[in-house]
Amino acid sequence: MPTPYTKPAIKIVYYDDIAQKLPSLAGKTIAITGTTSGTGNIAAQTLANKGARLILLNRASQRSTESLQALKSKYSTAEFIPVDCDLQSFASVRKAAIEVAAICTDGLNVLCNNAGVMALKDEATADGFDVQMQTNHLSHFLLTKLLMPYLEIAAEKNGEARIVNHSSVARFGKNLQAKYLEKKGGNLGGDGSRMMPFPGGRWVRYQQTKLANAAFTASLHEKLHANNSKIKALVAHPGLATTNLQQTTVGDGGMGSWFTGLFMKSGQSQEDGAIGIIKCMADPDAKSGDFIGPGAGRMAMKGPVVTFALEDFYNNIETRELLWSKSCEAIAEDFVI
Ligand SMILES: NC(=O)c1ccc[n+]([C@@H]2O[C@H](COP(=O)([O-])OP(=O)(O)OC[C@H]3O[C@@H](n4cnc5c(N)ncnc54)[C@H](OP(=O)(O)O)[C@@H]3O)[C@@H](O)[C@H]2O)c1
Repeated sequence: MPTPYTKPAIKIVYYDDIAQKLPSLAGKTIAITGTTSGTGNIAAQTLANKGARLILLNRASQRSTESLQALKSKYSTAEFIPVDCDLQSFASVRKAAIEVAAICTDGLNVLCNNAGVMALKDEATADGFDVQMQTNHLSHFLLTKLLMPYLEIAAEKNGEARIVNHSSVARFGKNLQAKYLEKKGGNLGGDGSRMMPFPGGRWVRYQQTKLANAAFTASLHEKLHANNSKIKALVAHPGLATTNLQQTTVGDGGMGSWFTGLFMKSGQSQEDGAIGIIKCMADPDAKSGDFIGPGAGRMAMKGPVVTFALEDFYNNIETRELLWSKSCEAIAEDFVI
């Protein structure tokens, strides 16, 4: 196992002001995937502090147990409901969705598909898909489908509900390709870890997953709008944020620890990185189809968040239809909006 890199200490610049200005979220139920660390953990803290009831969707682990305990002791009056959900397994996602449904008979205000892994080896899940694509997109597609009735209940009651996806500057690169969404895990380009100028297999597969997150948002937005739905679809990116993401990748051999330590000095804090998803979930002015992050371009690694439009390279009929049809094929059911 490669030596994990040491995270550089980076100051929080924008987060405190944004968090303090958020409205009360009392009475809202918000489900977030991946809250053991990083942006999901910061978002859970921020929204609980504003009065929301939080459903924490994590795979069972000591990290999950300990992060729950830490949240409970820091925000003692907040309500945190843990639900086991391993995004590497469709069976686990289905089981989790049944539990969330039982909690949300009065509606689910926000589903935030935050969890992710980066540049892992070319390996298949038990379901046969690329480990990155199933974790980062396909399981979130299934979860969203299964929780849609509860988002609809909340939207009818409150005038809106939200689905928030978490993409990346890594979305830039190749167009979306069908094979990455197919049962071809372990046969999708190998374990090459070069980032530039011709990315190795690990990075191409990660790029496809983060492009899928953006294309999923574009497809949802288009379908919800056509249906006059009150549910909003939004997407964020965190720039380059010092979370555990890079540590997991270093541990898997996808990045060198020395290089990562140097590279991450040009990033921002995990608090500032979480602002995009936090605004997508809780900013009263955020609209369906908004993309929120520290800049729109591929070099947008840090800075104050801006809101920009979904981009043409995935927000086009061909990509939206490819994303939707291959994702439905993967989960072996239709997702009709
Ligand atoms: N940090 C960045 O610079 C950066 C840049 C662009 C995009 N992003 C995106 O930001 C999102 C959050 O990542 P992060 O940076 O906050 O990294 P992180 O600190 O590693 O958090 C990732 C979360 O995802 C969870 N997760 C991973 N595999 C899972 C699985 N199979 N089932 C359930 N949960 C799982 C992790 O839980 P475990 O503890 O169980 O592993 C953890 O809670 C990801 O979608 C990532 O692609 C991050």
